[in-house]
Amino acid sequence: MKTVQPSLFCFVFLLTLLNLGCKENKKESQTDMETENTPMESDHIVKSTFGEMPDGTTVDKYTLKNAMGMEVDVITYGGIITRWTAPDKNGKYDDVVLGFDDLKSYLDGNPYFGALIGRYGNRIAKGKFSLDGQTYTLATNDGENHLHGGLKGFDKVIWAATPKSADEGAILELTYTSVDGEEGYPGNLDVKVTYTLTGDNQLEVLYEAVTDKPTVVNLTQHSYFNLSGDFTQSVLDHELFLDADAYLPVDGGLIPTGELRPVSGTPFDFTTSKVMGKEIGADDEQLKLGKGYDHCWVLNEEESGFGLAASAFHPATGRVLEVYTDEPGIQFYSGNFLDGTLPAQKGGVYGQRAGFCLETQHYPDSPNQPSFPSVRLNPGETYKTKTTFRLTTK
Ligand code: BGC
Repeated sequence: MKTVQPSLFCFVFLLTLLNLGCKENKKESQTDMETENTPMESDHIVKSTFGEMPDGTTVDKYTLKNAMGMEVDVITYGGIITRWTAPDKNGKYDDVVLGFDDLKSYLDGNPYFGALIGRYGNRIAKGKFSLDGQTYTLATNDGENHLHGGLKGFDKVIWAATPKSADEGAILELTYTSVDGEEGYPGNLDVKVTYTLTGDNQLEVLYEAVTDKPTVVNLTQHSYFNLSGDFTQSVLDHELFLDADAYLPVDGGLIPTGELRPVSGTPFDFTTSKVMGKEIGADDEQLKLGKGYDHCWVLNEEESGFGLAASAFHPATGRVLEVYTDEPGIQFYSGNFLDGTLPAQKGGVYGQRAGFCLETQHYPDSPNQPSFPSVRLNPGETYKTKTTFRLTTK
């Protein structure tokens, strides 16, 4: 298969960035932190070895640190965030994302803990879609459907990493070239994901991509949070706010039916903060289909194009997570399929609802649903979208 050399990638990427506009529905990012162009290690970013792939490839770990004491571990396998510490109301830092201690556990079966997801976050019905009259068949890995990029999505590939220095935090650029036909998708896709840990406990995730053929793209980050820091506890005591007046009901395969259903008067209403567990057991057809919450919410339009989409609060520790994005949707997944078979990082096992995900994205199955915002990327355009996770206390 045809591969794109890194030098060519840089050239194409630079040209495209210099010249061409953003993808439809994608808004420009906020001001970036000042960076230097030379790859380097500093007090704020430390490289170590995490493990070795079966073919001998080394998997590196980069620890991003800021002056406040936050640390984020990112590995080059899947761009996975394996550890992310955040302060509680007494200033005590603890890991708040589910993960594993060693590479083998990630290779043996990772339910997307901490991973970068692509080319398409969420499901595409029956693994098929058409572009310009041509039908593409994708790998199916969720019954008859395609989920999170297929059998070997971006969560399972090795990313090239470039650490960069920053005044108060740390920056890690990850790049990957997905070749034409990978998992069934058209076009060579050059992807760059930049993790920026700021001096004030925000982690910005900037996603960029360019293609040489029309294709579809929908990237996201799949961290499972448990703000208690105790992964043997369920997250149902966390309070959740979602800035969404509607959500996308699904069918039995968790594919959106196409309806945008108002949340008002349903267990899906998080427009006023409420405990995640309050209505999760309600007699509701949609909750039964998802075995809990596993749906995409339609975010209320932000005038600026970038705003607060969701926040979660853990009363006992005082930890607050805020999620800001320019994406039109957010998948709230309440960890329903965790079943107590995976070993937890600090002892015990990951039980059902030991973590929750807030995955910013375009709507599931958009390639097959013309009424949804477009996920199409054309040659000459740059896919560019940003999500920021902010950890504070109250
Ligand atoms: C999906 C779930 C899926 C999970 C896998 C989530 O993004 O919505 O249905 O089981 O990822 O970890």
